[in-house]
Amino acid sequence: MPRILTGIKPTGIPHIGNYFGAIKPALDLQHQGEAYYFIADYHSMTSLFDPRQRLEFTLGVALDWLACGLDPARTVLFRQSDVPEVTELTWIIGTMAPMGLLERAHAYKDAVAKGRTPNFGLFAYPVLMAADILLYNSNIVPVGRDQKQHVEITRDLAIKFNLTYGETFVVPEPRIRDESAVIPGLDGQKMSKSYSNTIELFGDEKTLRKKIMGIVMDSRTPAEPKPDADQNLAIQLLKLVAPAEVALDHENRLRAGGLGYGDLKKTLFAQYWDHFAAARARRAELTANPDYVEKVLRDGAQRARATAGDVLARARKACGLA
Ligand code: ADP
Ligand code: TRP
Repeated sequence: MPRILTGIKPTGIPHIGNYFGAIKPALDLQHQGEAYYFIADYHSMTSLFDPRQRLEFTLGVALDWLACGLDPARTVLFRQSDVPEVTELTWIIGTMAPMGLLERAHAYKDAVAKGRTPNFGLFAYPVLMAADILLYNSNIVPVGRDQKQHVEITRDLAIKFNLTYGETFVVPEPRIRDESAVIPGLDGQKMSKSYSNTIELFGDEKTLRKKIMGIVMDSRTPAEPKPDADQNLAIQLLKLVAPAEVALDHENRLRAGGLGYGDLKKTLFAQYWDHFAAARARRAELTANPDYVEKVLRDGAQRARATAGDVLARARKACGLA
């Protein structure tokens, strides 16, 4: 049974780009193996410096995973920092990481290119991520294309450690999600917290209706046929949240002429709201029951720690730490 592992950084409020690009594909995998999904709160420390926000976003990500269908009886859900063994493994495998390799890692390179003063945490980011993956004997790591390099670094470090000290770590495989799974934001660019163009996964109804009704369209009249209907942003989003026949019907009516943009956006909002209605209700229930969520996370940490302890002991022994 393959071990599947992935992490999400608690650095903001998740949006439907995160959902369709990362959360849903990971949840679809939870029955194909033994899944370990965690909230990367140590990683968030390289860019977020508000402790209250970190706690709030960490709980938020846990609620989102559970509301969207993570089954805690089967899948191990935990907070990265509840298993501090990962920091020791970071040190151990950090000694296998050449400076040049880390200097080429994109999170660090981008910060330098933007003229920011990178901290040690950012430089060590890929080593901590490698420790996350190796600590749990992970076979498959589902990630977006932007994280491919980090999984390759993980493989390099595992192979080098195994050659130096003997077979210790499982060498993982990245499972890269399709490029076409880039969900566009309200302005047509990639949906991202950094571009303020997001549709939140769970949010206030009025605010979200306003956001969706505010999507800017061109000035063609409703009656005009629109041969480029498949390129329309609202149609693209509708295809994600509506039943296929509803999306297709709207695309055809837009192409033929006669469907106004206002009506199209109204449908998009209604379908989006409906698509997440069950998850929203579950999230509200979970929010009212913080003890349960905390129990799931503690139980997850306990299960994760059992595996982590074994792997760390094996690594310590291999490299001659008494
Ligand atoms: P953001 O760009 O909003 O800061 P993150 O970098 O925190 O998002 O991404 C978390 C996960 O969600 C990653 O696995 C990433 O690949 C995925 N993701 C983020 N935005 C999108 C998007 N617009 N389309 C598809 N997947 C996305
Ligand atoms: N760096 C990943 C991101 O920004 C989050 C992450 C941390 C991760 N550790 C991981 C993903 C281990 C997969 C495996 O999206």
